[in-house]
Amino acid sequence: MEQTLIIVKPDALQRNLLGEIIHRFERKGLRLVGLKMARISDLKVSEHYAHHKDKPFFDGLKRFMQSAPVVLIVLEGLECVEAVRFITGATKGRSADAGTIRGDFAMSMQANIVHASDSPANAQIEIKRFFDHEELFQYERQDKTWVYSEDEIA
Ligand code: CMP
Repeated sequence: MEQTLIIVKPDALQRNLLGEIIHRFERKGLRLVGLKMARISDLKVSEHYAHHKDKPFFDGLKRFMQSAPVVLIVLEGLECVEAVRFITGATKGRSADAGTIRGDFAMSMQANIVHASDSPANAQIEIKRFFDHEELFQYERQDKTWVYSEDEIA
């Protein structure tokens, strides 16, 4: 099944929102396959946000992402990149839809609580950037026949 990378950003940890964020993903029916806390290195944060390197906010974004530890999460599920982006909401917290993580907890463009991969191809690249193969877990979930229909998990 499809996987996606979540980075729970420094603002979320400072504001005690980690449990709330994981709770939302769990309740949706997504499978947790990787989870760890880390300080992101300069190299990895530059690589992760390389597509923003010419933007005026790049240096500030790097400083912010390294200002405290983050929590890295890999989630798995059917079309989970899209499903997670609906839960996450728009980048700018103050205009994200109510009910989304950013809509409910963020006011900022930069301090927007979580990063979520924007496509299945990028998800694979981002997961490899932050996780070694042995840090990802494959296991059966007893509730899968209640989360999906038979044809969806065939
Ligand atoms: P994220 O989903 O992690 O992807 C890129 C990040 O850059 C984004 O969330 C924000 O944290 C940050 N970002 C995007 N646009 C701006 C902006 N205009 N000013 C500051 N930070 C931004």
